[in-house]
Amino acid sequence: MSNNFPARIKESSNKHKSRIVLALDLNYTDRDNAIIFAKNNINLLKEYICAVKINFHLLLPLDFYSEVKEVIDLAHSYDLQAIADLKLNDIGNTNEIALSHLWLGGFDAATVSSFIGFDGLRDAISNAHEKNNGIISLLYMSHKSAADTYGLKIIDPKSGKTIHMYELFLNWVEELNADGIIVGATVPEVIKQCSDRIKNSVLIFSPGIGRQGGDARNALANGSDYLIIGRSILESNEPDKEAAKLREFTWKIAS
Ligand code: XMP
Repeated sequence: MSNNFPARIKESSNKHKSRIVLALDLNYTDRDNAIIFAKNNINLLKEYICAVKINFHLLLPLDFYSEVKEVIDLAHSYDLQAIADLKLNDIGNTNEIALSHLWLGGFDAATVSSFIGFDGLRDAISNAHEKNNGIISLLYMSHKSAADTYGLKIIDPKSGKTIHMYELFLNWVEELNADGIIVGATVPEVIKQCSDRIKNSVLIFSPGIGRQGGDARNALANGSDYLIIGRSILESNEPDKEAAKLREFTWKIAS
């Protein structure tokens, strides 16, 4: 596989003909079955996805260096990428230690909050790039109250003009060469604005499909590269059929 995260996820996407990142979320607290849930779903859905995203749903109940690593190794055995969705949002030292553990566990990329600021983002990106891994920065979240923060109007410290908070983050990720950004499928107009600026240099990942009201077709048409999908697949009656269906129509739109 290629030696940087954007190239690796592209390779995986082309191999599986899929733009779907599976949000491997166990939506109940069943410590004993968490590892089985994770492995069964990877085995079932491996053909239809290009990556798995692992969140607190599994990171909290599973033992990190044995069980989480086992899940990541399984994903890698199918040439799937593994993304840690911790939305890191702490001081530099804490982010650095957290990222070091994530890379040792085998993750290929991690999400961070843009609210850590320009220097925090720069340090996280260089930490990841030293290990040929990636940083995906939150640009505009998918939930309803995202507008309360990401959509705030602020004064751009460089130009003195009024801009939105997310537009400041967009300036940063472009300048810092982040690997990806998260923009909710619920805000297609923001996806379009980002895509017009950073298409082909920073990947756009969009969660919020289905349960949160976002539309896959609309997200891709406006410039998303990858769709992060959990419950619409995992909680359907036939997750493999649902994933196959989603893969097929989303691959056609974006190719
Ligand atoms: P569902 O079940 O709604 O799962 O398809 C979505 C997954 O993505 C996460 N999520 C986000 N992660 N920025 C992120 O970094 C977002 O705006 C966002 N919205 C949802 C969510 O935690 C779940 O794992």
